[in-house]
Amino acid sequence: MSEQKFLWWKKAVIYQIYPRSFRDSTGNGIGDLPGVLEKLPYLDEVLGVDALWLSPFYPSPMKDFGYDVADYRGVDPLFGTLDDFDRLLEESHRRDIRMIIDLVPNHSSDQHRWFQESRSSRDNPKRDWYIWADPQPDGSPPNNWLSVFGGPAWEWDENTGQYYLHSFLKEQPDLNWRNPEVKEAMFDIVRFWLDRGVDGFRIDVAHYILKDPEMRDNPQNPRPMSSIHKPLGEYDSQMHLYDKGHPDVHEIYRELRVLLDSYGSNQPRVSIGEIHIFDWEEWSRYYGENLDELHMPYNFSLLGASWSADEFRRLVGELEAHLPDGSWPNYVLGTHDDHRLASRYGRGQARVAAMMLLTLRGTPTIYYGEEIGMEDIHLPPEMELDPAHAQKRDANRSPMQWTAGEQAGFSPPGGQDPWLPIHKNYRQVNVASEKEDPASMLSLYRSLLAVRKEFPVLQNGSYEALTDSPKNCFCYFRKTSRQTLLVALNFSREPRMLPDAVKSKDILLSTRLDRKGPADGPLTLRPLEGLILDL
Ligand code: GLC
Repeated sequence: MSEQKFLWWKKAVIYQIYPRSFRDSTGNGIGDLPGVLEKLPYLDEVLGVDALWLSPFYPSPMKDFGYDVADYRGVDPLFGTLDDFDRLLEESHRRDIRMIIDLVPNHSSDQHRWFQESRSSRDNPKRDWYIWADPQPDGSPPNNWLSVFGGPAWEWDENTGQYYLHSFLKEQPDLNWRNPEVKEAMFDIVRFWLDRGVDGFRIDVAHYILKDPEMRDNPQNPRPMSSIHKPLGEYDSQMHLYDKGHPDVHEIYRELRVLLDSYGSNQPRVSIGEIHIFDWEEWSRYYGENLDELHMPYNFSLLGASWSADEFRRLVGELEAHLPDGSWPNYVLGTHDDHRLASRYGRGQARVAAMMLLTLRGTPTIYYGEEIGMEDIHLPPEMELDPAHAQKRDANRSPMQWTAGEQAGFSPPGGQDPWLPIHKNYRQVNVASEKEDPASMLSLYRSLLAVRKEFPVLQNGSYEALTDSPKNCFCYFRKTSRQTLLVALNFSREPRMLPDAVKSKDILLSTRLDRKGPADGPLTLRPLEGLILDL
């Protein structure tokens, strides 16, 4: 692959920051942009990530903690100011760290000026910026579509006598992307941030923006299982054929790509879509027939996997087999919408998973706190804040654990209680302590990031599964013409011997961080041990 084509986002390790939970610089219990700025030296010099993805920081009533945007061109006072954003961007770039921001095109907040106008009367010029429809003759909603967060996807508006569509909360009305003015307005917003210098966008529920123009009813789901990697309650009772993912969506992403590409080759920009589709063919269409749509649809397939080497091998194989020619893969093991890795699989398992994430072929995204092994918090129901009750996402959004001191160093001393409780394990699980511990999870992530930099084969080499992996081990080669590495991951709680064929090996890294260098004779993986070997 020519260097020319091997763009920054293919080499990068992306780090997702949920600004509310990263670092509170003011003491109000809520993280903010100056807090992120303060922690750049950590992200750069300690961890060594290449790009940040910031979850929404825009002005918002915070019904869905910022995914309900009231102004796409500003910063919520809770998080700081536009100047704070510019400073953060400038300082990140000075450190050679790219900045990806969240774009939420499917819906705005009901407090957005556009929606306020839209709902004011049927003949308001913005009426058609949202999806309005008449009731059925008996007064019931226009069709059977459901909200991802529960209940019908339609809300009655008494004042104008119509329903509006909301695929998520009723405070998040869906924008009407069939109206060219909406597209233009959103593309202008994209230009606004590109002109400020951002390096790209993570596009929220990118496949939802276009629905069936006839608004047909969804059929019932004959299988009592979720269409994505986790159960969504009542939403799973339907097959979501008509309420999202209409093929016209591809035209929009082709146009968006032209816009991004027009920003030239000096600073190539990236688009990554949040796309929860588990039919590989349909998923891969978002790269575009001529690789002219999104640079990458996020690959969430591993998030629902059970702890089984065979299952991970199968999913990676399926992804590799379905990637369009010339397209680039990516992997995700944690997000602000999913339970923590160590809580899903266990702590020892999380170390093996970290090695896998950072050595598979493709761009990895690390969710904040995974690098120190943060775990889910358990909240009594009366303390839950997440409006998506079925998903319990508060659990994985607790404040970052920086120190063993007061409030885990999340807020300055004497600050208010953080917006979500800090995990009880913060005295052991925190950046300051783990930095000093050569065997910690943080030391493992640092070493993995360092090995990725030292051995570019981990960035640009091919992927090939080892066919005779020991039982419940996932082993794969990463190869270029000059170098071959083997990654050997033992998912079992038993020692496993690597096949004799794996010869003349040099251990580059063990997940236990206690062995390195030449290994003579047969090599055994200890229980839940992962190794990177130079062959
Ligand atoms: C995406 C976000 C999630 C949000 C939803 C609605 O799935 O990741 O956090 O609640 O969109 O905007």
